[in-house]
Amino acid sequence: MLDKLMNLREEVKERLNSADSIQSIMDTKVEYLGKKGKLTDILKEMGKLSAEERPKMGKVANEIRDYLEGSIEEKMTELKEAEKQATIEKEYLDVTIPKKQKDIGHLHPLAETKRQLEDLFLSMGFKVLDGPEIETVENNFDLLNSPLDHPSRDMSDTFYMDKDHVLRSHTSPVQIRAMKEYGAPLKMISAGRTFRNDEVDDTHSPMFHQIEGLVVDKNISIANLKSTIKTVLIELFGQELDTRFRPHYFPFTEPSFEVDVTCTNCGGKGCEKCNGTGWSMELLGCGMVHPNVLRNCGIDPEVYTGFAFGMGLDRLVMVKHDINNLRLLFDNDKRFLDQF
Ligand code: DAH
Repeated sequence: MLDKLMNLREEVKERLNSADSIQSIMDTKVEYLGKKGKLTDILKEMGKLSAEERPKMGKVANEIRDYLEGSIEEKMTELKEAEKQATIEKEYLDVTIPKKQKDIGHLHPLAETKRQLEDLFLSMGFKVLDGPEIETVENNFDLLNSPLDHPSRDMSDTFYMDKDHVLRSHTSPVQIRAMKEYGAPLKMISAGRTFRNDEVDDTHSPMFHQIEGLVVDKNISIANLKSTIKTVLIELFGQELDTRFRPHYFPFTEPSFEVDVTCTNCGGKGCEKCNGTGWSMELLGCGMVHPNVLRNCGIDPEVYTGFAFGMGLDRLVMVKHDINNLRLLFDNDKRFLDQF
């Protein structure tokens, strides 16, 4: 019996040595220590022993059982730990590996230039204001000194919501709102959408963008107007482009000018793109605020003077990025937009 017990011990030792899974250890446990297990079988034979031998053998049997239980438990713990380590290694995540770059997009060139100009004007002490796209006829035309027979008032030029409201045809009404709200002195700009009953072509669209600006203070002169406009255009296009102020007519300014910059295609020599003039299409209108406009907003033109300007944001972007077709800015074609 002693031999059997010793053999049992060796067998289990070997089984445990070669065991490579928790399941195989569970099986070994059942096979040797279970109710119908090999140890139990041997112990059943105890009855056949003499009264003298029985306690001795009993003691050995207990030791063997303790040994079996202990070593099985030990091997079990060892395997569980190994399994845990394997899982940790398998699921290891290197958080320092750079992630795959996603296409995250960027600002539309119009939004980018608008922000660039807003930042620039903010740095020069201007307020950045907003105005509504549906305007009163009063703000859009009347208070801007626009004569009743001015062609821009026609239905063929301006979209009317009803007889007193229009889709604003320019951002100039924001000047009126600003002067009424803040009085003088005042420095403001306002960028936004404007609407005209225009046919679409390479440089026209029924919806386009403007940036309006107004400065009202004592002793404001054309010198202030020119230096401000030049500063802005140099900031946008760089030193190499020259600016040209051409006399023009606007109801709300006197005198008035239109401004162009050197043709970016030929550098001013004259080419097909600029019809041989050497200058870009007109980029903005400006002038000294008409005394009637100041008066309409409760500002005394004997005390205050001012200058104003309205820039075509889309056209500025077209010149800046050498885009030859205004429609590209509104088509939202990703192939176009990805170039910026
Ligand atoms: N509102 C004019 C337009 O849309 C542009 C303009 C010209 C705005 C002169 C001004 C200005 O503020 O002084 O054509």
